[in-house]
Amino acid sequence: MKIECTVNGQREIIEIEPGETLLEMLRNRLGLTGVKKGCEVGECGACTVLVEDEPVDSCLYLAARVDGKEILTIEGLSQGGKLSKLQQAFIDEGAVQCGFCTPGFILSAHALLKRHPQPTEEEIKQGLAGNLCRCTGYQNIIRAVQKASNE
Ligand code: FES
Ligand code: FES
Repeated sequence: MKIECTVNGQREIIEIEPGETLLEMLRNRLGLTGVKKGCEVGECGACTVLVEDEPVDSCLYLAARVDGKEILTIEGLSQGGKLSKLQQAFIDEGAVQCGFCTPGFILSAHALLKRHPQPTEEEIKQGLAGNLCRCTGYQNIIRAVQKASNE
């Protein structure tokens, strides 16, 4: 079947297979490999992208459901080759180690800051509860979100 959607601001018409996931569509058909393929069972959040500004696990989300919708992946966050405030804050605060979880965390945090421009620490923890990191211990990630929210 054919679907039409907007990915990182660009209109796309894509032929997909029945049962194809959004993760497969973004990585395999559009080459957006910033969408990470982790557990593929909805546990780790590495595959997080935003659909209509809401974080979703793209490994569990059927591609057919994005027909007519807007999707944001990590590739769409920088503007004109310049990192977003949030991306820069992750670097400045040392919130990136192996980096595998980073696109998912940044997109969840981006959605959180849109809803709550000045989140409390508790709200940050809740907003990032669907994302797992095995490297950083989370404190640097929380500081990065706080830094981006204060700028
Ligand atoms: S790869 Fe989707 S939640 Fe882990
Ligand atoms: S930086 Fe390695 S899993 Fe988070």
